[in-house]
Amino acid sequence: MGENKKRGVMLSGIQPTGNFTLGNYIGAVGNWGKQEKEFDCFYFLADLHSLTIRQDPEALRHQSYSAFSLLISCGIDPDKSVVFAQSQVPTHAEMNWILNCYSYFGELSRMHQFKEKSKLHEENINAGLLTYPVLMAGDILLYQADYVPVGADQKQHVEFARDVAGRFNSIYGPTFKLPEPYIPEEGARLMSLQDPTKKMSKSDTNPYGYVTIVEDRDTIIKKFKRAVTDNEREVVYREGKDGINNLITIYSVITGKTHDEVAKEFEGKGYGDFKTAVGEVVADELAPVRTKYLELMSDLGELDKLLKKGAQRAYEVSLPTLLDAKHKVGLLYEVLDFCKAK
Ligand code: TRP
Repeated sequence: MGENKKRGVMLSGIQPTGNFTLGNYIGAVGNWGKQEKEFDCFYFLADLHSLTIRQDPEALRHQSYSAFSLLISCGIDPDKSVVFAQSQVPTHAEMNWILNCYSYFGELSRMHQFKEKSKLHEENINAGLLTYPVLMAGDILLYQADYVPVGADQKQHVEFARDVAGRFNSIYGPTFKLPEPYIPEEGARLMSLQDPTKKMSKSDTNPYGYVTIVEDRDTIIKKFKRAVTDNEREVVYREGKDGINNLITIYSVITGKTHDEVAKEFEGKGYGDFKTAVGEVVADELAPVRTKYLELMSDLGELDKLLKKGAQRAYEVSLPTLLDAKHKVGLLYEVLDFCKAK
């Protein structure tokens, strides 16, 4: 356990599209900063992945600044973690091509997300939609990541990254570390406030279904007051009480209280009081995040500096793995001076 003990590497990405919700905060980005103590962390905007679906260019650029600010406002320290935009680090696209040649049409066309998205976007089943997991595998393997925090919907993609890494290593010798998905515990999955049988989603057409990370206090409380529950009046966590269960989950994750403690606290009180209380703790929790976010978004020049710093560092860390892979497959090794990492 000497000082030189190598720290594990944690890496995750998020697409800069749509607003981040309370669900993203509790289940993902809100925890990412906490990993800095234990791991070397890499967090990035998966903006290349966003191109698999048609985007409005101006909106995407704005969303990229916004999502980058959110990562930092939610607790990632850009002096400790490497925070960057995937498209600003050219090793990702290069690694993608190499790994494409070790990935099979059959396995890619069988992935859940490809099947779902091709149904949803029948008019645009582009090659990027098919090779999406290969780009993601490169994102992960370039940094020799040990753990990849993702939602359950992305688990298959992390498994694919392991498969490709294993396949490459068995042909060329050890090159990539095999990453493991790091799925947040249950309870971290929030449901829609309007239909608690569905996941809380930033693409919900009803804005009362979700709370975004940067909404103002009044809106947050209003949304919780309107949350759909049931016809009973007891605040207890019980099968069939999806709406109340979801609110108890939110309240207990934020306050650190157990489900039983929450039930005790609201014994004899109605749903109205409980909903307001949930809204208040959420609003309190998110207030500093919102302040920091607005401060960061008021200076895009400063954000550009942070992005550049992150991209530079990400490039330096990922280049040796890319060059190793290029060399192993027989590409010429020497790189132009301006590509050399410091
Ligand atoms: N596909 C992920 C998502 O939509 C985002 C992503 C891209 C990612 N590359 C990654 C996540 C690498 C983890 C690791 O959620």
